[in-house]
Amino acid sequence: MSKPRVIACADRQTVARRARELVSAQIVATVSRRHVFHLALAGGSTPQPLYERLAADPWCVPWPAVRFYFGDERCVSPDDPESNYRMARETLLDRLPIAGEQIERMRAEDRDRERAAADYVRKLPLKLDLVLLGLGTDGHTASLFPDSPAVRDQQRRVVVTTGPKPPHERLTITPPVLRDADELLVLVTGAEKANVLKQVLLGDWNPHVLPAQLARRGTWIIDREAAGELPSGGFEED
Ligand code: 6PG
Repeated sequence: MSKPRVIACADRQTVARRARELVSAQIVATVSRRHVFHLALAGGSTPQPLYERLAADPWCVPWPAVRFYFGDERCVSPDDPESNYRMARETLLDRLPIAGEQIERMRAEDRDRERAAADYVRKLPLKLDLVLLGLGTDGHTASLFPDSPAVRDQQRRVVVTTGPKPPHERLTITPPVLRDADELLVLVTGAEKANVLKQVLLGDWNPHVLPAQLARRGTWIIDREAAGELPSGGFEED
């Protein structure tokens, strides 16, 4: 299991700055070779400063070549305050020079959740270039929650799941999608994440209990508060 690259920044804004630099550089490099970039966005609150920074200077990235996906979505209307799509639309997507066809939204509000999951599988590329992820205090990432059937699913690529974090019903990508992705970038901020972050990064391999360990091979950009229980020297200083 390759070691995670961990970059510790002073605070949430420097996490967002460093993440913007990394995401922008990956998009520019990949688009120069393959003329397209498949990016899966994370939900929750942590990525919002990153999205706002990416939107603030829209011309530094070839956005017309980027196709946007979602790692998970709550089963609510797309204009619900709890919708990951709404959050991404307001902080990033509405502010970029892109066409609506570049955004592949999870239709998690559909009454037939299983059909919505199957439809999304057909929209996902076989390999995402970059998956943005967060970390829950219980060790979940995307909507892969501890001991859930979704975290054990090695066949399907998008499934319906429920979790303890409301809204409880969700669609989520599964471990095979994380496994096949070129790059994983996890953003973690706040002292409340320090203990689970140490367990995820340094604990025994047990992704059914700590699903965020599925991103252990990725790059983790964290703030000082989240780094509070990591051994000094266990990460790069920004
Ligand atoms: C979601 C996210 C979820 C999130 C973590 C961290 O839909 O809620 O996919 O995995 O990344 O729960 O959430 P915060 O960034 O709000 O701490």
